[in-house]
Amino acid sequence: VETSVRILEDDVVFDAGTGSVLNSAGDVEMDAIIMDGRSLRAGSVACVQNIAHPVSLARQVMEKTDHTMIVGEGANLFAKELGIPQVPPDQLVTDIARQQWEEYHKYKRAVNELFDSQLGHDTVGAVAVDSEGNVACATSTGGITAKRVGRVGDSPVIGCGAYADNETGAVSCTGHGEAIMSVTLARTVTFNMEQGSSAQSAADKSIVYMKNRVDGTGGV
Ligand code: GLY
Repeated sequence: VETSVRILEDDVVFDAGTGSVLNSAGDVEMDAIIMDGRSLRAGSVACVQNIAHPVSLARQVMEKTDHTMIVGEGANLFAKELGIPQVPPDQLVTDIARQQWEEYHKYKRAVNELFDSQLGHDTVGAVAVDSEGNVACATSTGGITAKRVGRVGDSPVIGCGAYADNETGAVSCTGHGEAIMSVTLARTVTFNMEQGSSAQSAADKSIVYMKNRVDGTGGV
């Protein structure tokens, strides 16, 4: 899942790594998580800047620290300690992201409205199962255009943007972070699987639940 998400982070089409959307200050701030369904161990980073592959930093949090989440300056300090190179801020900024940010400021559109108009420009994720039934998931995002500086969405939050448990399955989410957090979407999917739903049916039920409860949109 780390390798898959790294490839998507490099793809400018997606809102993760290179191609991340810009916050209200016009900067990239990214969130990512990785989770191992054998141990329920997860690692995540939030509000990290100048890193090409936040998902790999999240994996280092899982494997090399006693913590689950490290944010902001601390995440960048941790990356420095590991020798992960910092990239110049502009290297992650694409024309599409700049355009969306300018459109937001020109028309003063609501962040949620702009979010709905982001045609296919969204969070990335991967899930995997090996031959022994071990599952894993990873999610990475730049968040939503013009988000407040320091805003953290669902993606790096365990049970919200991702969840993996060998006893049920692995989930990665995309969509409106505030809504996803309200219903702990990833854990809601595995809960529905525990109750006997197939993966597809659990995903469908959870998306409908989010729509009905908080009028949220997204996918898993
Ligand atoms: N789902 C990504 C975010 O809202 O930040």
